[in-house]
Amino acid sequence: VAFSADNSRVTATLPTGESVSVLLYGATVVSWKDKNGDEKLWLSEAAKLDGSKPVRGGIPLVFPVFGTAPDHAQTKDLPQHGFARSSRWEFLGKSTSESTPTPTTPAFAATATSAAGAVAAAAADLSVKLDFGLSSSGLSEDARAKWPYAFNAIYSVTLNTDSLTTNLVITNDDERSWECQMLMHTYLRVNDITSVSIHGLENASYVDKTTSPISTNKQTTSALTISSETDRVYTPAGDDPASIPITVFEGDQPKYTVLRDNLANVVVWNPWIEKAKGMADFEPKDGYKNMLCVEPGAVATWQVLEPGDAFEGAQTIVLGGKQN
Ligand code: BG6
Repeated sequence: VAFSADNSRVTATLPTGESVSVLLYGATVVSWKDKNGDEKLWLSEAAKLDGSKPVRGGIPLVFPVFGTAPDHAQTKDLPQHGFARSSRWEFLGKSTSESTPTPTTPAFAATATSAAGAVAAAAADLSVKLDFGLSSSGLSEDARAKWPYAFNAIYSVTLNTDSLTTNLVITNDDERSWECQMLMHTYLRVNDITSVSIHGLENASYVDKTTSPISTNKQTTSALTISSETDRVYTPAGDDPASIPITVFEGDQPKYTVLRDNLANVVVWNPWIEKAKGMADFEPKDGYKNMLCVEPGAVATWQVLEPGDAFEGAQTIVLGGKQN
């Protein structure tokens, strides 16, 4: 695994060509490429990557509040989507794993390196995990003043040949209990939003944030398509709402399958024409045609963390229609 890190960004590339790049600012994944070098995430051309503003694109992390919560005493003073995406995280290290047996005999190794196919097969299951950390002591004074609770966060980004997993563990290190929300604000790259359909949210109830007042308890009946501003917080149906995969199709091709672990909600967001115009860091202005946010999170309620408790949530974005 090729690897580079400086004081602002960590990048890892698998032997098969896939790569991931994570900014320390916000632990924001800003690039995920497949083996052909095709970018899977949308990143605004005007995104600030210098730490002056949360990144417009990639995968910003939302914690400890989704949106703003004026009525929630503990988080009411925090900026939109909390401070995780605008704090500088620490890079804790990398680990690689390979589930196929490594060639042990020289004869096998010689065959493997001389035959391109064998090399690809041997390397196929190699993956790399990058770990990042943030705790209360790493927050800005402003964030600490607005949210004075002791916590520890570990964020792991795992690149596989055909998937990317992001996993967040939040621990309450305080003597008091506190409540939080978390979400992974993934900007998926698509070729043409008008040919996209989202499957897996049928029969899910949702809150529509584009209406005024916000309308609740709506229900999808068929696959979701996007033809205007869309901002919905879904709670998929079933005993285990986090177990339902969400598949994003372009035409009849499954492009991404989003799997969730312990994250009961899915936000679907596209700003469309007018909202995109209103965001200074959203470029090009017609970039809304090339992005779709599918955001796994725990945001419809509050996670109560007693002292010492942890909450863990994860997403895996699989290329294509596979559901691991
Ligand atoms: C989504 C919210 O998750 O994030 C939207 O549901 C919001 O309401 C969007 O507009 C972008 O937020 P921000 O703070 O990055 O502009």
